[in-house]
Amino acid sequence: KRPLRIGLAGLGTVGAGVVKMVQTHAELIAARAGRPLSIVAVSARSRAKDRGVDLSAYAWEDDAVALARRADVDVFVEVMGGENGPAKAGTQAAIAAGKHVVTANKALLARHGQALAEAAEAAGVALRYEAAVAGGIPVIKALGEGLAGNGITRVMGVMNGTCNYILTEMEKTGADYADVLADAQRLGYAEADPSFDVGGIDAAHKLALLSALAFGTKVDFDGVAIEGIERITLPDIEQAADMGYRIKLLGVARMNADGLEQRMQPCLVPLSSPVGQLDGVTNAVVIEGDFIKGVTLQGPGAGEGPTASAILGDLIDIARGLNVPAFGQPAASLKPAARSSGGTA
Ligand code: NDP
Ligand code: HSE
Repeated sequence: KRPLRIGLAGLGTVGAGVVKMVQTHAELIAARAGRPLSIVAVSARSRAKDRGVDLSAYAWEDDAVALARRADVDVFVEVMGGENGPAKAGTQAAIAAGKHVVTANKALLARHGQALAEAAEAAGVALRYEAAVAGGIPVIKALGEGLAGNGITRVMGVMNGTCNYILTEMEKTGADYADVLADAQRLGYAEADPSFDVGGIDAAHKLALLSALAFGTKVDFDGVAIEGIERITLPDIEQAADMGYRIKLLGVARMNADGLEQRMQPCLVPLSSPVGQLDGVTNAVVIEGDFIKGVTLQGPGAGEGPTASAILGDLIDIARGLNVPAFGQPAASLKPAARSSGGTA
């Protein structure tokens, strides 16, 4: 069968992971997808940089838009980041040219996901973003497909690996906040601008996407009440532990009588609870629905391997010919997310 031909925009932590996974598991992927996946062309800022992977078989494009428009590309994989710039332009160009899009970019989708999903539906192409929320945990598939028959009542969880890593290391080693953040950057967990992680913005991007999927509302990032972990100190962490709690950056989304309530903030969580036991880069998402009651998904929330895994899951779905609306129903039918009077915590 004809390969599914990939144009890969971004060759950093995630992009290099995608190359490794496609190369390592070529046969397994072809068997599961029913046809091979083939990277045909790649793009990044620097052509000269050594990325620890063999790119010699792939064409190079300086420009993401040119990559997206290539006649030999079926799927544009966007792993550059940024809510505007080449990520947005490349994604729009791909959709306009009738190409499927797979992205890990929650910042892009939290701001422009609604318009991009409508454009993708009009063009009859897939817009998939499993990697954008909770790294390797297949939460978009769970919420958008496996649990799609439920009325969802609440979605909550730990959605930023960098913050959970920082809080865990501070607790366990008494390490300095700045040193642990530097480790998270070295390990490839943090955003290009790590204030997005520690400021709660990255996790809020993810919560806004989950809310749209869970409650059939338009993506409403501005409606998330956000507080980050920058002001959490070692004495705060120690005092919480003395009382049997841990501090976690916790997101909660639920539909109240007045509308959608979305919060992302540091919370005291009992040590004995599932979320209270999360260590390191691990994320967990709890989905509560009327027929399912509660489902908890837990796993690695960031890093090369887990994020590549999520991208490959989306690519295999596309290779199989599967397409589902990005937010579980046609984007044009999503309701405005009237906000409950929440304010900050
Ligand atoms: P990196 O910073 O490691 O890599 C970004 C890549 O994009 C680099 O190859 C870079 O080129 C390229 N790039 C950046 N800006 C431009 C530009 N203006 N024009 C052309 N190329 C550009 O980021 P990550 O791989 O960590 O993240 C990529 C995306 O995946 C982001 O949206 C991020 O939020 C998301 N994500 C990341 C996860 C992680 O654990 N790291 C997990 C889940 C999602 P060059 O290398 O030449 O500088
Ligand atoms: N910076 C993000 C995190 C990457 O630490 O969770 C995964 O989305």
